[in-house]
Amino acid sequence: MAKKRQLLIVGNWKTNPGTLKEAKKLFLNIQKGLPQNSGVMIAPPSPFISDLYQIAFGHKIKLAAQDVSSEVGGAFTGEVSLPMLKSAGAAAVIVGHSERRARGEKDEDVNKKVTAVIKYRATAIVCVGEKSRDGHGNFFGVVEAQLKAALKGIKAADLKHIVVAYEPVWAIGTGNNATPEDAHEMKLFIRKVLADNFTRQSADKVPILYGGSVTPQNTADLTERGGVDGFLVGKASLKAREFLSIVNEATGA
Ligand code: PGA
Repeated sequence: MAKKRQLLIVGNWKTNPGTLKEAKKLFLNIQKGLPQNSGVMIAPPSPFISDLYQIAFGHKIKLAAQDVSSEVGGAFTGEVSLPMLKSAGAAAVIVGHSERRARGEKDEDVNKKVTAVIKYRATAIVCVGEKSRDGHGNFFGVVEAQLKAALKGIKAADLKHIVVAYEPVWAIGTGNNATPEDAHEMKLFIRKVLADNFTRQSADKVPILYGGSVTPQNTADLTERGGVDGFLVGKASLKAREFLSIVNEATGA
């Protein structure tokens, strides 16, 4: 069992479940089983944020959005802005998820979105991760470039609004999670990139999460040996029992 420390565990529901009724049921089942002060966030589809925020008892669970427009208002049909998400109850936004990048999102778009999130003092959960691993460590360069581009023009003081999620694309939804050693190595690398580009002090405060096929079975190892500051959980966040097991394994509850 993992030792107790404050971790951040984010459930990314992606385009699930299909209805508000199902979303409320899943949310309430998670909420019911959560230990105190467990540091859990749920990122439901944005039409559900407001309703789930209303039933987030004592705000034990925080709400996050899965994406945001870099536009704040105006004639941008279909775009959802940060002030809208915030007023619906979202405290954070996932930015630059690989599934958004696969649909055409560029590093510059990620940077604009991160800038919008900081401007409105929400939290940006910035996703980075290589598509594949090679034997020469080139994937470190990929992650560094994504991170630098995402945080371009940001001040060291703004890092308090940033969470980094290391999500190797090859691990997402595949059942092949990164090993705790690989996750640990990448966490140290990301921390160093942040310290080199900002300040050590501000970099040290940024939570660095791992995401990609996190399950109740691999959580304790990734927490203890991987030393990550939390998790971004996709598939396993859609079943209350599985997600709660992950939270319990991670927090030592
Ligand atoms: P997964 O997804 O847990 O289903 O691999 C993680 C994610 O995409 O954030």
